[in-house]
Amino acid sequence: MQNIESPHRRIMSGSRPTGRQHIGHLFGALSNWVMLARDNDAFFEIADYHALTTGYEKTDALQSNIVEMVLDWLAVGIDPARSAVYLQSQIPEIAEMHLLLSMIVPVAWLQRVPTFKDQIAALGPEIATYGFLGYPLMQLVDIAIVRANAVPVGKDQLSHIELAREIVRRFNHLYGATLVEPQALLSEFPDVPGTDGRKMSKSYGNAIDLADDDATTTKKIRAMLTDPLKVRRNDPGRPEICPVFSLHNVVNAERVSAIEAACRSGELGCLDCKLELAARLNATIAPVRERRANIDPASIPALLANGAERARAIAVPTLADVKSAMKIG
Ligand code: TRP
Repeated sequence: MQNIESPHRRIMSGSRPTGRQHIGHLFGALSNWVMLARDNDAFFEIADYHALTTGYEKTDALQSNIVEMVLDWLAVGIDPARSAVYLQSQIPEIAEMHLLLSMIVPVAWLQRVPTFKDQIAALGPEIATYGFLGYPLMQLVDIAIVRANAVPVGKDQLSHIELAREIVRRFNHLYGATLVEPQALLSEFPDVPGTDGRKMSKSYGNAIDLADDDATTTKKIRAMLTDPLKVRRNDPGRPEICPVFSLHNVVNAERVSAIEAACRSGELGCLDCKLELAARLNATIAPVRERRANIDPASIPALLANGAERARAIAVPTLADVKSAMKIG
């Protein structure tokens, strides 16, 4: 993991409320958030405006997705007493700052972000709206409005953070030093494979959810694809192409070299290898699942209101600075 030594590091990150979080979220991002939040000021945002950019046609599940995501965040150890956990749409200053900054961001910068074309290719031309084009600008506003200097994200977000830095530099160049230039912090396991070997993602149907029970997890792992050339137990396997092995790497570090050797020699069969992974993963997630089951969802609105109040304590003066720098309002 990258490290910037700064006594006043302020962390900000967020996620679109897509519902239940999976172990890819946990090992790719959330565990890093939890660790960073121990020694840093931290702001964790549920990006519901961002959810609208790609999901504006179907918003029925939005509210329940928000609740499920907050439950998962709390279950993995994000502590709302220590870190601000809030809903983007409850910070109206974000919308106002987004409008102001939209005046200075060249359209070509936004069109050039790889996720813009990739997402249109993946989700269809109907997502190519004005709001969707502004997605990375809104992300910068999320970060800059709370004056965060460090943003823990996965690899797929690096182009957004790079653009965020360019927009900050442009703003500061035009109107004087006002906004903080953020830096990305990559976690140790940015890419967690799903059960089919592709990146774990709800939309691929290859995810193991944090809220899955032990039996469901074991069933999903038993059905995982392995090296297609390892048909029988004694056939030698190729761990480097096997998603089961990649997951051992994430949750079973102390056994990983023994597993690698035993797979290559043919001594370890895929079923045993999977059952060991399932047991290990279930043991790792057990405390998360237990905490999740004990959180009262009725406590969430007050928790978010408190988080919004804390985020607005910084967002309101930041927006005032932006307006005064731009000589408007
Ligand atoms: N774009 C991020 C993602 O898809 C979510 C996000 C929204 C975010 N606002 C943010 C991440 C601010 C970091 C900082 O994962």
